Amino acid sequence: MNPIKHRILLGAQWGDEGKGKVVDHLSAEADWVIRFQGGNNAGHSLWVNGKKTVLHLIPSGILHPHTTCIIGEGVVMDPGVLIKEITQLQEANVFKKASDRIKISERTHVILPIHRGIDVARESKAKGTKAHIGTTGRGIGPAYETKALRRGIRVIDLFDGAHYSEKVEMMMAEYAHHFTREELGELKSQSVIDLEYWKKIFEPMLIDTTSYLKGGEAQGKKMLFEGAQGVMLDQDHGTYPYVTSSFTTSPSAGIGAAYPKVTRAAKVVGVAKAYVTRVGSGPFPTEMLGKHVEGEEKRGEEIRKVGQEFGATTGRPRRIGWQDLVALKYAVDVAGIDEIALMKGDVLSGMGDFKVCVGYQKQDGSLWKTYPANADELLKMTPQYETFPGWKKATPEDPHYQKYINYVEQFLGVPVTFIGYGPERDAMIVRDGKRLGHEA
Ligand code: GDP
Ligand code: IMO
Ligand code: MG
Repeated sequence: MNPIKHRILLGAQWGDEGKGKVVDHLSAEADWVIRFQGGNNAGHSLWVNGKKTVLHLIPSGILHPHTTCIIGEGVVMDPGVLIKEITQLQEANVFKKASDRIKISERTHVILPIHRGIDVARESKAKGTKAHIGTTGRGIGPAYETKALRRGIRVIDLFDGAHYSEKVEMMMAEYAHHFTREELGELKSQSVIDLEYWKKIFEPMLIDTTSYLKGGEAQGKKMLFEGAQGVMLDQDHGTYPYVTSSFTTSPSAGIGAAYPKVTRAAKVVGVAKAYVTRVGSGPFPTEMLGKHVEGEEKRGEEIRKVGQEFGATTGRPRRIGWQDLVALKYAVDVAGIDEIALMKGDVLSGMGDFKVCVGYQKQDGSLWKTYPANADELLKMTPQYETFPGWKKATPEDPHYQKYINYVEQFLGVPVTFIGYGPERDAMIVRDGKRLGHEA
């Protein structure tokens, strides 16, 4: 009997750690895969038999025909994006009838053109200032904002035309000051949608998530909860204000998937790269590029090229940094991570010595070993590094990679149970994890 029934999978850094690949891999053994936060700011890449699929809203278990994929109420859902994703998967013969494979909570909030409009308008106004977050421009922040304002629109609201129009009016009224009368008129007309068409698509997928998951639990379904973004982008615990607008740590799975009884019993996997990347603004102490440090600039460029570090959602080049174990240790503690999936070590193979940040030095010379809350303070600190000999192969047979893994485990106090060594589904080692008293 496998002692681990349910898993929650989280990004442990600033997103794009390889969550899609790990979820796809683990979905071979899961019955249900559930997204619980974020929206189509996520871009999760899967490689199966040389073919790449990028998913933004549909859970990354969808390529396994036996799975049911659920979009929980903690997610914000752009209906146009979901329909496009469904169509692409149908064209690729992943499924015929979407409602056989995809379920969506009736309480999930929807992203409308006004949300995207506000996101883009705010960001362009803030360009070149500290207020510029570098969002994905997908309307994620404003959608969570209207939810908190109690002016949001949920999937269930799409099924009653009069009710929907009234809600759109109420939402728009809150944002009148952001736009000219003409702009507002345009956004409003874009929000007048063919509700009958949407109803036809979404109605067969609708679920009451709590009773659905409760039923799944009774039937013995094995559930995999798929996080988006990463712990360092969490609204409470990340590098605020340079964060996303949702909660990316493990308790969020209990809320966003609406059945905490199962998530409480789940093991939490934190996905981390062997190095670090970040897209958008915000502090990044171990950043290699842009600091003009001898040798680092070139190495950063090389990692970006070999690791194909360009955003799966926006195509933006990702910022590259040395591994930051202070941030990762903080992520393990704050997000309740039990085990680590260490990805993309293969990108560093053959590149020579590799640095790992193990503390930050403050200006007064004292050493800071936890992750500071103040982003400005962080910018003034100097990372303290340990240097590791480079490896030829990113698997435990290579003594240098093994040494790096051992160090990571010691530092974090949790085992590295999965090792990714390439983008393909099967380029992954699942370790027995008996070390550090782990039973999986
Ligand atoms: P996610 O947002 O966490 O799902 O990650 P992304 O899909 O945005 O970015 C991760 C990228 O790394 C994708 O292009 C993956 O195909 C790729 N990838 C994932 N795991 C590995 C790995 O172990 N090695 C290599 N070389 N690439 C990987
Ligand atoms: P996955 O799931 C990396 C970043 C944006 C920006 C900040 C806020 O693929 O790992 P938002 O549009 O959410 O308001 O942007 O968060 N961001 C991500 N970075 N991977 C992601 O998702 C991200 N989703 C948002 O770049 O800095
Ligand atoms: Mg991504």
